[in-house]
Amino acid sequence: MDVFEAMSTCRAIRYLKPDPVDDDLIEQVVTAATWAPSPGNSQGRDFVVVTNPEKKRVIGEAVETVMAHRVAAMERPDRMHRLMLDGTEHLVETLKTCPVLIFVCGKAVYPYESPRESFVWSSIYPAAQNLIVAARALGLGTVFTTFQGTAEPVIRETLGIPEDVHIGCMIPLGWPDRNFGPLKRLPYDKVVHRDGWQGDLRTYPPTYDD
Ligand SMILES: Cc1cc2nc3c(=O)[nH]c(=O)nc-3n(C[C@H](O)[C@H](O)[C@H](O)COP(=O)(O)O)c2cc1C
Repeated sequence: MDVFEAMSTCRAIRYLKPDPVDDDLIEQVVTAATWAPSPGNSQGRDFVVVTNPEKKRVIGEAVETVMAHRVAAMERPDRMHRLMLDGTEHLVETLKTCPVLIFVCGKAVYPYESPRESFVWSSIYPAAQNLIVAARALGLGTVFTTFQGTAEPVIRETLGIPEDVHIGCMIPLGWPDRNFGPLKRLPYDKVVHRDGWQGDLRTYPPTYDD
């Protein structure tokens, strides 16, 4: 699949079928993640891939315990928020049976003489995005999540992640139970400034013309 088609249809997929994902596909998407840039090519990131049903159950239940009522209480003022938060609610409920959970982790290793935490995230996020786009190209659904932070002690203990390794994000991966498709994003002419800044700062959340 053309990279532009993969990127432009790479919706957050929060509905995943419970069917297993072959190890060679997992290896392909994680290998694509390793191709991402990092400061000084330091590559201070690791991928904890979880398919063990008992470990997924423990992690899924720990996230659900904290997140289920939080997400249920979040306001859904429009269709976009309703679809997103309904999806998040579903994901939180089904995390324990999601086929694969991938934790993208990183340690402060750069600059080598005086490592800084800010560089951890600049290693983790490009890798996570490569993984997500590669999965899309293979027809696999993913969603970038950070709500694993609500269960971090349980995740660390269950997976034996060392204290000095940050857990940047958790990417549930599986065969999609919803369609990929066009993304709701601000268009080029709303975000680009040619040869210098023009116009006022936008307000947030973004608003769309259509
Ligand atoms: C840093 C970051 C953190 C995110 N955390 C969560 C999360 O905890 N739970 C969740 O359901 N989605 C999470 N998302 C997914 C975003 O909600 C999603 O990318 C955004 O709404 C766009 O969705 P779309 O690509 O389907 O349009 C996160 C995305 C990013 C980049």
